[in-house]
Amino acid sequence: MRANVDSLFEGDTAADVVIGLTRARLISNAIMVAVQLNLADYLADGPRTVDVLAEETGADRVSLLRLLRCLAIVGVFEEVEPLCFSQSEISEVLRSGVPDSVRDFVVMDASDWSRDGVGRLTECIRTGYPCMDDFYGYMTEHPDDAAILNSALAAATRRELRVLNRIDFSSAKTIADVGGGNGTFLREILSQYPDKRGVLADLPAVAEEARQVLGTANLLDRCQVVDVNMLESLPFRADTIILKRVLMDWSDEDVCRILRNCRASLSDAGRLLIMETLSSSLMGALNDLLVLAFTNGSARREDDFSRLLEDSGMCMTDVVSLPSGFSVIEAKV
Ligand SMILES: C[S@@+](CC[C@H](N)C(=O)[O-])C[C@H]1O[C@@H](n2cnc3c(N)ncnc32)[C@H](O)[C@@H]1O
Repeated sequence: MRANVDSLFEGDTAADVVIGLTRARLISNAIMVAVQLNLADYLADGPRTVDVLAEETGADRVSLLRLLRCLAIVGVFEEVEPLCFSQSEISEVLRSGVPDSVRDFVVMDASDWSRDGVGRLTECIRTGYPCMDDFYGYMTEHPDDAAILNSALAAATRRELRVLNRIDFSSAKTIADVGGGNGTFLREILSQYPDKRGVLADLPAVAEEARQVLGTANLLDRCQVVDVNMLESLPFRADTIILKRVLMDWSDEDVCRILRNCRASLSDAGRLLIMETLSSSLMGALNDLLVLAFTNGSARREDDFSRLLEDSGMCMTDVVSLPSGFSVIEAKV
């Protein structure tokens, strides 16, 4: 599946390409507006005219038409007959509540704190400092923003569940997900493997949310949820520890602290699974700019992880790469 954006990224001259790349941000913005107006939800039951959509969303009819026509050219929505729009395969994932929905991810990118940080990228690159002193401290103090972040991460996790086909958990007894967010990933693993036990470790407010997610799935009888500061210690034992999208937020020094704490919690024959988008891919490089704006961390390459693991007393034993740049790095003591 492809969005119809090729004309934006190719041209006769370098200037055409640069202008296309720069203007592409309006596509992002148009998608964010579509989500804020819940257009994909209104189109869930079938095509609607722009008049009906304007009435339902409270938007200005002519402006809404211009937005919908722009998005339809890209492949998000379709103008099935003049002034009448339907869902497209791409816009389907902008609906709320569908299994592969990424609506919450778009909501996060559209939120004030996210736009503000990205808008201050120049300042961050000039100074070398992120726009927030303590990203997760900010989230703890702003529960509404944290809720948006956690929903977005859960949406990203649902997309990443396909990675589970590539990992063999058969020899594991206890699987810990450190910085495991609201428990979406661990819930899926424990549901697929009814003989495994789980540990979900995260900051107290996030762990509380995970208790609800795992409780609703009736998994708390074989899954412990622990409040931790992973920079200090991990008070549990496991033979498989997962760190998914966690290390990217931290400096090399802090990554070594986290890895050493994981090593101390792992049984002798245990293994660590680091799941990250590597900075050698375009998506990883874009994520790298995001963490540059918000945290002291960075996206990394395979050899960076190899070095950090060695510095923490572990060694890299395998790497599985998925087409999106998302990779699973296996390490052992
Ligand atoms: C980018 S999120 C990734 C969440 C989840 N693993 C995923 O892939 O969606 C990073 C997670 O690390 C947690 N975290 C941040 N600082 C932490 C700390 N000091 N100790 C434990 N968890 C922490 C956050 O609350 C958040 O859930």
